[in-house]
Amino acid sequence: MAEIINGKKIAAQVRAEVAAGVTARVEAGLSQPGLATVLVGENPASEVYVRMKQKAATKAGINSFDVRLPTDISQEGLEKEVTALNARADVHGILVQLPLPDGLDEERVLGVIDVNKDVDGFHPLNIGRLAQKGRKPLFVPATPDGVIYLLEHIGTEMEGAEVVVLGRSNIVGMPVALLLVERNATVTICHSRTRQLPEVCRRADILIAAVGRPEMVKKDWVMPGAVVIDVGTNRVDDDTKEKGYRLVGDVAFDEVSEVAGAISPSPGGVGPMTIAMLLRNTLKAAELGDG
Ligand code: GUN
Repeated sequence: MAEIINGKKIAAQVRAEVAAGVTARVEAGLSQPGLATVLVGENPASEVYVRMKQKAATKAGINSFDVRLPTDISQEGLEKEVTALNARADVHGILVQLPLPDGLDEERVLGVIDVNKDVDGFHPLNIGRLAQKGRKPLFVPATPDGVIYLLEHIGTEMEGAEVVVLGRSNIVGMPVALLLVERNATVTICHSRTRQLPEVCRRADILIAAVGRPEMVKKDWVMPGAVVIDVGTNRVDDDTKEKGYRLVGDVAFDEVSEVAGAISPSPGGVGPMTIAMLLRNTLKAAELGDG
């Protein structure tokens, strides 16, 4: 049976470290870190995520600023809001929740965020640095950063490892692949056109699933002893639940945990880490602002 990677517990430790860092700052007479979340429109999943981020920020002693904007806001209107946050001394980190409603140009909005406040690491400059050898982004996107943290935490050797990343999204697949290349792993990125997907996955010492397809990764896709990180969070219908759905990952957890060496569950794996890494980035942004 696989080691179950307890993301909830590991994230709680990171959050406690951030909270201690915030307390130390404030006691030293420095500013209290502030995080502004920008949510455009009414995507129910995004609303849940943003609320969780705000709650966790407050609990860590970080000021949380809630910016809610209507679905029909113009590109200029949204950019103006972000520019106003850039100018505020009490806002150290700015997060624009993705996806944006149709019609808004995501790349342009992300490019307007002050790079020193880009706690999500999605500013083109930070992503560009991530993609280039020897260049360090100021901030690394939270979910990929959380994946790496989990791998390090359980002592996974990344150097020279065969890693397969399922998914090539801007938010997870691509940046996590770049972070692993930086750690000298041999990385294969799979996507909807990949041929013989199960065979390719079975080569992996480390398999990272970030495609958003419920329980797609089966037992026979996984090399015995491999480390499996499940980034997926999918809603599937379930009449036995009050909400009418339950959350499952991209990995068929029960069967895969029979063969994997270690596995992160979903929920309870990468999800909590995303929030913890965002808080860490916000503290770092406040520290950058000091000097
Ligand atoms: N949508 C899904 N994940 C994320 C994330 O980490 N940050 C933002 N801003 N939007 C997201």
